[in-house]
Amino acid sequence: MRSRHVLQILLSGVMGSTLCFSTVQVHGADGAGSGSADQDTENHRSTSASHSNAWAWVGAITPHSATIKAGREDTPPALQVSAQPDFRDSRVFAPVSVVSAGNLNELAAYYLEGLQADTTYYYRWSDRQNAGAFGKFKTMPDGAASFTFGFAACAATGSEHKVFDVIRSHEPDFFIHTGDLHYEDIRANNVDRFYRAYHDVLVGSQRQNVFFRNLAVMYMWDDHDWGPNNSASNAPGRDAALASYRTVVPHFPLALGDDDPDDPVGQAFSAGRVRFIMPDLRSRRTPNRAEDGPDKTMMGFDQRAWFKQELLAARDNYALIVLVSGVPWISPPGGHRDSWASFQYERERISAFMVENEINNAMMIAGDAHMLGADDGSNNTYATVNGVTGPGFPVFHAAALDQRGSRKGGPYSYPTFPGRGHFGLVHIEDDGERIQVTFEGHHFRDGIKLEHTFEVGSGTGVN
Ligand SMILES: [Fe+2]
Repeated sequence: MRSRHVLQILLSGVMGSTLCFSTVQVHGADGAGSGSADQDTENHRSTSASHSNAWAWVGAITPHSATIKAGREDTPPALQVSAQPDFRDSRVFAPVSVVSAGNLNELAAYYLEGLQADTTYYYRWSDRQNAGAFGKFKTMPDGAASFTFGFAACAATGSEHKVFDVIRSHEPDFFIHTGDLHYEDIRANNVDRFYRAYHDVLVGSQRQNVFFRNLAVMYMWDDHDWGPNNSASNAPGRDAALASYRTVVPHFPLALGDDDPDDPVGQAFSAGRVRFIMPDLRSRRTPNRAEDGPDKTMMGFDQRAWFKQELLAARDNYALIVLVSGVPWISPPGGHRDSWASFQYERERISAFMVENEINNAMMIAGDAHMLGADDGSNNTYATVNGVTGPGFPVFHAAALDQRGSRKGGPYSYPTFPGRGHFGLVHIEDDGERIQVTFEGHHFRDGIKLEHTFEVGSGTGVN
């Protein structure tokens, strides 16, 4: 049986539905209200003081550690790290490695350990102590805790859209980028091409430069930042994509281990009593056009085995599971080709596994569709086992950060809102017994367009 989903739609806060739906039409008509949105992307080159090609990406945060990848034109020195913005009581972390990474210059990896849980830390280069903090991040909470994370997908390469500032203004504890970090559609097995694409995001956009320095970002690619549009494991740049991800992206231990460069980059991580499972749905993927059946897979058989083990472990050890899918999960037969609609056999097997094993405490955040969207779980019915239909977890879409709007997948139990300037916030309220989850679908200027709340109990056999 699936979780009890308490909820309702709150249309743009106090606004009535009439006004809200007129907003939908405005935004749907040009795919984003792009006239004003485009205006908003201009003239924002002053978000930070000059950063002279220096960049940093904070990620892979745990209660007591964090990983920072960072680069500048000369060899990066140690980082000074402190829980005080004035750097009293600071510690110094030398790079664990430095490599030359094309346009990203000299790229250093820092592993910060011995940190306090649920604490904001500031960091700066040890040779630029007069410059103030270069960035900050917050460590994960430990044990039952309430927190907020943001998520979204799909930004034009080097986008300067205001949405990145608006997300930070909400002060989420961390952010999950669900794919299409850029739209370079790289077709060459050339790692420098990938470094250049990362550079265009991390350095080329001042707004994103600030974003990635000051908010922990966990990231899984979708198609455009992996290879060509809708591409699979046969993308020409496959090896370079995998190699550059490992080098540039701060990441948790990978699903199948870190040793084999051919392995996918799926990961799982925890925040309080919430387990996030974020598979890599590109590097092992059968091409979308292949005939469906047991031999066709979006995850790859080895990563799918890992995924199932993660589900079982999360059912037993966590109160809530957040699945991350770069493409729509809810999609009808013959629906959007780049979604799970082209992998119905595998979707049914995963759904049956969840029903059989009574994994009733899950939700999903999904990318690719350039829209805000939500399903309360009522359309997520892909397997029936012993009379029980499921998996029934709620599914939330939040995109596009900065791309023309599109509607994909469905049906959904809520209206969809295509367009740019979108992101999601997920509020986790954990009292130690039950967790209340609230998804808010935001437009950077108009605020909340969609809201859905549900509850799960503390672990196995929810409701
Ligand atoms: Fe996209």
